[in-house]
Amino acid sequence: MNLLVSLLLSGAFAHMPLGQFEQKAVLADATILRQLEIPIVMEDKKLNVGLSYINPQQEQDISKASHLLGRCGGFESLEGDSKNKVSHFEALSSLRQAADKEDFSHFLKESVVLNYNAQIADAMSEVDPANLEATVNWLSNNFNTRYHRSQNANAHVEALKAKILKMLEGSNLPFEVETVAHNSTPQRSLRVRLVGSEKPNEIIVLGGHLDSVVQGIFGPGPAEGRSPGSDDNASGSANILEALRILSTKAQSKRTIEFFWYAGEEAGLLGSAEIARTYKQSNQDVIAVLQLDMSLNPGAGEMVVGNTTDFTSLWLREMLQEMNRLYLNITLQEFACGYGCSDHASWFRQGYSTLMPFEATMNTINRRIHTKEDVVHSGSSFNHSAVFSKIAVGFAMELGNSDRR
Ligand code: BES
Ligand code: ZN
Repeated sequence: MNLLVSLLLSGAFAHMPLGQFEQKAVLADATILRQLEIPIVMEDKKLNVGLSYINPQQEQDISKASHLLGRCGGFESLEGDSKNKVSHFEALSSLRQAADKEDFSHFLKESVVLNYNAQIADAMSEVDPANLEATVNWLSNNFNTRYHRSQNANAHVEALKAKILKMLEGSNLPFEVETVAHNSTPQRSLRVRLVGSEKPNEIIVLGGHLDSVVQGIFGPGPAEGRSPGSDDNASGSANILEALRILSTKAQSKRTIEFFWYAGEEAGLLGSAEIARTYKQSNQDVIAVLQLDMSLNPGAGEMVVGNTTDFTSLWLREMLQEMNRLYLNITLQEFACGYGCSDHASWFRQGYSTLMPFEATMNTINRRIHTKEDVVHSGSSFNHSAVFSKIAVGFAMELGNSDRR
């Protein structure tokens, strides 16, 4: 199939009603769009891809013209085909950059609008930076490493499980806590499930990786080397735990909320890849996935948060902007890893919707990660980190009680 096949962004862009037709946003071969005199809203010159809003007649015309050029003219759903999503990401993201520059950004609105909810604001206000500090210190200092192939690769997993069981003792909600075994690593992931009241089969995922790694050719190997991983990713793990603590004291949500602490992320997203694949294979209805990986080092300043654009979903990035408008009061800046840098990519590759807020922005990435210096230091901020637990709480309460998908 040709790289420049027309691409229907059925879920990613809003359908724009115009006259009697439903207009659809498509990415299509720019040459064909010009031939057919279809207005191009934005264009990526390098990839020769244009963004246009088309009616059903134009859709047929594009399809015909594509066949004449010996190209596959079929429209492909960005939402349906995860492979395509990844390969067309480049086209889409460069169009988005053009949109920002030219202020065409209103065309790209998915139009997610949230209403203020005092219960969500209250729950967010319960996030306690001192709890985050305690958890990050506990994970960083009580275990030499959390590497997936270390001697006691599951010691911290079992310890966190025990901590959680104790924490949930007083909860009135139906819950399940279990470790998940993998084929690709001896390390286990940890999953907690707060079962939904009305739509228990619809799942909201909050997760982060619990493992750590130390790289480098000198010193002991990764299995023995000291790897505190305070920022990467004791911080995100602590954020998820704090969100669980708060949510477990609230009213049961309609949808199920699942909390994950993934195994073996640092060795290639091992745990999350298996989990996301298994979920897809068994048709699990995962509505949205939040990934928290690194929240402790405000590289671009406190309260400046990266809204990761790759391997994430437009509607959830917009939801984050909405949560910011209503509750957070932070500065959001677009950020891209440029590759599948964390567990959200595992879910995205299976076609699920994802979001990954990040502690910093481009060029302000913490250089201590994957070294024994990834510890709590003067540049760390638990107030900054607290924002990410608030995001997790808001994400779960908002999506856990809506029909949005
Ligand atoms: N937390 C990092 C990813 C990251 C690093 C995000 C810097 C943003 C800025 C994650 O734990 C990691 O190290 N991922 C691996 C990729 C994986 C496929 C092995 C990486 O980036 O090398
Ligand atoms: Zn890492």
